[in-house]
Amino acid sequence: MELSGRVVVVTGGGRGIGAAMVRRFAQEDPRGLVVGDVDGDLAAEVAREVGGLGVTVDVGREEDNVRLIDAATDRFGPVDLFCANAGYAIEGDEQTPDVEWDRMWRVNFMSHVWAARRLVPEWLARGEGYLLHTASAAGLLTNLFALQYSVTKHAVVALAEWLAVTYGDRGLKVSCLCPQGVNTRLLDADEKIRRLLAPVALEPEEVADRVVEGIENEEFLILPHPEVEGYFQNKANDYQRWLDGMRRLQRRLLE
Ligand SMILES: NC(=O)c1ccc[n+]([C@@H]2O[C@H](COP(=O)([O-])OP(=O)(O)OC[C@H]3O[C@@H](n4cnc5c(N)ncnc54)[C@H](O)[C@@H]3O)[C@@H](O)[C@H]2O)c1
Repeated sequence: MELSGRVVVVTGGGRGIGAAMVRRFAQEDPRGLVVGDVDGDLAAEVAREVGGLGVTVDVGREEDNVRLIDAATDRFGPVDLFCANAGYAIEGDEQTPDVEWDRMWRVNFMSHVWAARRLVPEWLARGEGYLLHTASAAGLLTNLFALQYSVTKHAVVALAEWLAVTYGDRGLKVSCLCPQGVNTRLLDADEKIRRLLAPVALEPEEVADRVVEGIENEEFLILPHPEVEGYFQNKANDYQRWLDGMRRLQRRLLE
């Protein structure tokens, strides 16, 4: 899909990958850019830079996702591309309290369902629409030290696949963005996650360039780190060997 003349919404657009996507999309002459972020000041600042609309939203609440899409539609017309990008990472395991599982489930995963719930019927009626899900390489492989992050990102990949299969013949386009490390504030959240991802981190601008290319080519899987495709194939080809390799990596990182 060409971005020129389109109405685009990016959640988590106040910073990091989302802000880089907004700035990169602005170079493609869209009709309207809408930046949603829980930090309303950041959203407003990025929106101001690109002549767009900033909206304060907590994507972990369905009503905020609906309000964001309604605000975009009121200002610029029907949404063409929705980037469900907001998310966060923390360390966690099976002992992580339910309240933290619940929060991450809503922000990292249900937000994508709520956006689709609001937009898909309108897009099917129109015969076109584009959803970009920011998942992670953690959604294809796993993220050492971060159980609920890995689970929510796997869920995003599963949702994206399902939507692409179910509605692809009726005009819905779906992309699933699966970066490994990206040099953003997310890496500061946790020392172990930083140690794992910082050595392979790309800059958010590099990811945004790859996203524009992926959308133009309507690619399902957008992999800013091309090596992730090889890891994904290794996992499918020999699961047992892949698990052994991940344990070796974990041992090395814990030494
Ligand atoms: N940085 C990485 O290494 C990396 C790798 C793979 C995937 N990702 C994914 O990329 C996405 C963006 O992360 P980032 O690296 O740019 O991190 P970031 O922390 O720099 O930016 C995230 C943005 O989302 C906003 N946000 C957080 N919770 C929100 C909520 N409930 N409602 C609305 N906005 C909210 C934050 O305010 C921030 O502006 C996330 O989904 C993340 O999981 C990041």
